Amino acid sequence: MADRIYYPNAELANNAYCNSMQQYKDMHEKSIKNPELFWSEIAKQFYWESQTSNDKFFSYNFDLNQGDVFIKWMEGASTNLSFNLLDKNVKCGNGDKIAFYWEGNDPEDYSRLTYRKLLEETCRFANVLKSKGVQKGDRVAIYMPMILELPIAMLACTRIGAVHSVVFAGYSSDALAERMMDSKAKVLITTDGVWRGSKLLILKAICDDAMKKVKEKSHEVESCIVVSHLRRVTSPQGSTLDGEKGKHGINGSSNGNNEPNIPWDEDRDCWWHEEMEDAEASCYPAWMAAEDPLFILYTSGSTGKPKGVLHTTAGYLIYAATTFKYVFDYKPNDIYWCTADIGWITGHTYVVYGPLANGATSVLFEGTPFYPENDRFWKVIDKFKVTQFYTAPTAIRSLMKFGDDLVKKYDLSSLKVLGSVGEPINSEAWLWFYNLIGHGKCSIVDTFWQTETGGHVITPLPGATPMKPGSASFPFFGVRPELLDEDGKLIEGEGEGYLVFRQPWPGMMRSLYNNHERFQTTYFDKFRGFYCTGDGARRDSDGYLWITGRIDDMLNVSGHLMSTAEVESVLAEHPSVAEAAVVSKPHPVKGQCLYCFITPNEGKTFDKTLQDELKKKVREKIGPFAQPDIIQHAPGLPKTRSGKIMRRILRKIAIGDKNVGDTSTLADESIVDLLFQLRPQN
Ligand code: PRX
Repeated sequence: MADRIYYPNAELANNAYCNSMQQYKDMHEKSIKNPELFWSEIAKQFYWESQTSNDKFFSYNFDLNQGDVFIKWMEGASTNLSFNLLDKNVKCGNGDKIAFYWEGNDPEDYSRLTYRKLLEETCRFANVLKSKGVQKGDRVAIYMPMILELPIAMLACTRIGAVHSVVFAGYSSDALAERMMDSKAKVLITTDGVWRGSKLLILKAICDDAMKKVKEKSHEVESCIVVSHLRRVTSPQGSTLDGEKGKHGINGSSNGNNEPNIPWDEDRDCWWHEEMEDAEASCYPAWMAAEDPLFILYTSGSTGKPKGVLHTTAGYLIYAATTFKYVFDYKPNDIYWCTADIGWITGHTYVVYGPLANGATSVLFEGTPFYPENDRFWKVIDKFKVTQFYTAPTAIRSLMKFGDDLVKKYDLSSLKVLGSVGEPINSEAWLWFYNLIGHGKCSIVDTFWQTETGGHVITPLPGATPMKPGSASFPFFGVRPELLDEDGKLIEGEGEGYLVFRQPWPGMMRSLYNNHERFQTTYFDKFRGFYCTGDGARRDSDGYLWITGRIDDMLNVSGHLMSTAEVESVLAEHPSVAEAAVVSKPHPVKGQCLYCFITPNEGKTFDKTLQDELKKKVREKIGPFAQPDIIQHAPGLPKTRSGKIMRRILRKIAIGDKNVGDTSTLADESIVDLLFQLRPQN
């Protein structure tokens, strides 16, 4: 059956920056044939303290046979991110424009921040960081909920050339410690705690634990700066801890003396608001070289050890800005909302850097889609008259369950562009998003990209691309995707294979922090001359690309990428576990979930207690989002004679499909039947 095609709504298309496939094709061709010309035109929109020269604008090597991999954009240029995002916007008359509408976990908590105020707060906090001894190149770890101080902290780092490493505040203390250890963070910024729905999390206690673990490994976090957040927000019981309800400014009104059991180390810890009191509201920007590090963001690696993806200054700026502009077709009076947490790359590029580089007004949302009711997303869209709404398929699927009436209560007619990110979007979810949320007139941009790519790489453009539900469609400017077969042969025309890229675009990663070797072997070794994404893709007869999912040992649970090895090593640490094997199983809401096979040690029983302990261990070591759904008893695992676990068979067992294919290479074929018998029944 031919895929139905949905055309961009005429009004949207007429006003779009890119308004036809012809224009898209022309621009794409120019960006590939002459990247220097294409991107140097774009770079003119930004301020450069010193300029690059044409011959140095772009150089790279993707081919390990020719030597080390490197990627350089705009060598010789220098700039500052916070200057371009803040000072420049204030100078051109956007000072009073709202940069962020903040919407708290509780609907009674909200505030707003203009570009001018954001600049002042950024400068103040940059001065605080300096007073803590932070210098250009130092790493600053950030473990915070979605509050205004989070972008302020990131921008303050960029102001002085410090490298931020934001760790998603749903990670456990072990995970935070591992990341701080790897990056040798000098300072940690956090909050006392946060309400997530009706659950209170004392983030500072998690940080204390992590800092202790780091110290045991002989690295020390010198300062911990803590935002006093709990006292200024409404708790689910309906009162703020200091009795002051509702709207508040970003400085809050707390003095930090009345906190609920917040652990404290006088020599190391300090309150954000106390430090900010005397800090100057101006700070001269550090001019950074184009390829100076901007941030590190950890992502799961197939060996289990997280990879510190490193992004640099100039290329990231122009790519984040350009993808934001064209993919969301952001216009000056629009109100944009990306629901992603800033702790992930989507939040970095499309909550902070991309929108601010375009002088945009965004919603920054602290809460969850389900609190206080399951209509929160629709309520917030209606409240702020959101024009672009960017979320994840898993969120869409989980909200579809609650029925259409919850959506219909609200006026969503302000919406123009809907975005999807993080995993393939199934056509049912796509159609629900399109018809009900977008009332059949919004374009959906199904944006494929990765922490490593820095910004969108395969995506429709809302005013140009005819949409096929579930297809990420075509490459963004500067991106050259190819499909390769297992032997590295190019697949032309229709076909399916490994998704790789032939040349760098400005926003792609430059290395793995302190581990260029791993960068090269992970992404450039398998297919010489190409960046290998680890995803598979299919090209249809119209040239549309369809991402088919990971083809390595990674899996994607609710849009969070993790590796089976990472979870296996946590499970295997349990004293009762001899061996563990983890595979992914399709899940109706999360996309995929973890299905674990456990072989207990001799004399140990496999029971409910063990299952609960293992689930708890994964929560503690990685984070709640990584908790396995199913833990199955496996007296043995299907292995080849050389001892390799055949995951292909485990994946079949996980879904209950007896069609396991050839098992003749197994050392013990009878294990397959046994594992089917032991499958939990629901
Ligand atoms: O498998 C792809 C999937 O998410 C992976 C990247 O995960 P992460 O680095 O955490 O970044 C997520 C947000 C950009 C990819 O390798 N993925 C991301 N977007 C899509 C997707 N799969 C299908 N369609 C997408 N639109």
